[in-house]
Amino acid sequence: MGRHKILVVDDEAANLRLLKRVLSDEYDVIEAQNGAEGIEVLKHQDISLIVTDQRMPGITGVQLLEQSLDFRPHAIKILLTGYTDVQALIDAINSGKVYKYIPKPWDADELKLTVRRALEAYELKEKNEGLLIELRKTLAQLEEVSMGTIRALADALDAKCDYTSGHSLRVSRYAVGIGKTMGLPPDELRDIELAGILHDIGKIGVPETILWKPDRLNSDEQSIMSNHPVRSAQIIGDLQGLGRARKYVLHHHEFMDGSGYPDHLIGEQIPLGARIILVADAYDAMTTDRPYRKSIGHEKAASELRKHAGKQFDPKVVDALLSMVGEQGELIKDKMPESIIGLSIDAINLKQTGKQYLAANQH
Ligand SMILES: [Fe+2]
Repeated sequence: MGRHKILVVDDEAANLRLLKRVLSDEYDVIEAQNGAEGIEVLKHQDISLIVTDQRMPGITGVQLLEQSLDFRPHAIKILLTGYTDVQALIDAINSGKVYKYIPKPWDADELKLTVRRALEAYELKEKNEGLLIELRKTLAQLEEVSMGTIRALADALDAKCDYTSGHSLRVSRYAVGIGKTMGLPPDELRDIELAGILHDIGKIGVPETILWKPDRLNSDEQSIMSNHPVRSAQIIGDLQGLGRARKYVLHHHEFMDGSGYPDHLIGEQIPLGARIILVADAYDAMTTDRPYRKSIGHEKAASELRKHAGKQFDPKVVDALLSMVGEQGELIKDKMPESIIGLSIDAINLKQTGKQYLAANQH
C-alpha cells in the first residue's frame, strides 16, 4: 500500500498547520477549514483516515464523521475534542462511527501513534475484505456449475452413450472410494468425484455412430474418440476451483507405460486423480452391460485389472479398488461409497439403460 491520504479538519488555521506538520512526514495530509470543505475532499479523494475537531461553526466534527460514511465508509475516524463535549463524544463512540477520540490539547506523539495503529487496522481490514471478495467470487463460480447442472450433464451423456444409467456417477463413487482407501484428503476426494462425474462429458460431441459402434473403430473414428478428454476439459473450462478436477479429466485415458492419450504421460507424470478415474472407469465398464456386450462380471474384471496393472493401470490404484470392492465384489453390491459433494444415486436402477432412464425422468 502506498502513502495513506489523511484529511485533517479544523476551523483554526494554527491547529491545522500543527496537524499537518505532525503527520506529513508519513502521510499525504489534506487540509479543510470546516465540515463542508471536508466533505468535498471526501467526495473526490481516496481518504484512509479523518482527523477532525469537534467544535466548528456549521457542521460539527461528529456530523462530519457521520456524513463521511456516505463517501468513505471505511475511512478511520478520529475526533479531537475538549472535555466540555463529553456527551457528543460518548454518543459518537457508542454509535461505532468514531475509532478514537483524542482530548485537547493533544500530544503530537500520542496522535502519531494513534494514527499509525488505526491505519494498521485499516490495512488489515482492507486486506481481509479483498480476500473475502475473492472467496465470494470463487464460491459464485462454483455455484454456477451447480451440482444439478453437473448431474444433468452426466445423465444426458449416459443416455447418449446408452450405457446403463449412472455410469458417470458410479465411476465418480468408485473413484472416491479408491481415493479414501488410499488416504487422500477431502479436498482431493471432492475434485476426484467431480472429475469422475465429468470425465466423459466431451463425448457429447462424438457422433452416436462412433459411440455405439460394436466393431473396432477405424483410425479417423479413433482420433475423434480419443479427443474426448480434451473436449471434456474444454467444457469444464477455466472455472476457478475446478482446475485440479480439469486435469484429472484431461488425463483420464493416460496409461502408465505412456501408450495412452492425449499427452502420452508416463507413470507418476499422470495426476493420481486421473489414474484413479481410469481404473474406476474400466471396472465399471467391465461390470455393467453395454449395448454390444454383457458384463464380464467381477472376477474377470479384477483379473483384467491385475493383468494390465503396471502397463495401463497404476498397481496401487488397482489394489485400492479391489480392497474396496472385496475379492468377490461383495462389498460394493449393496452400498456404493458415499458422495463427498452430496449427490444421491438412490434413484438409479442399475439395470436400466441410460436411454430408458432419461425417458422415465422426462416430463
Ligand atoms: Fe473417457
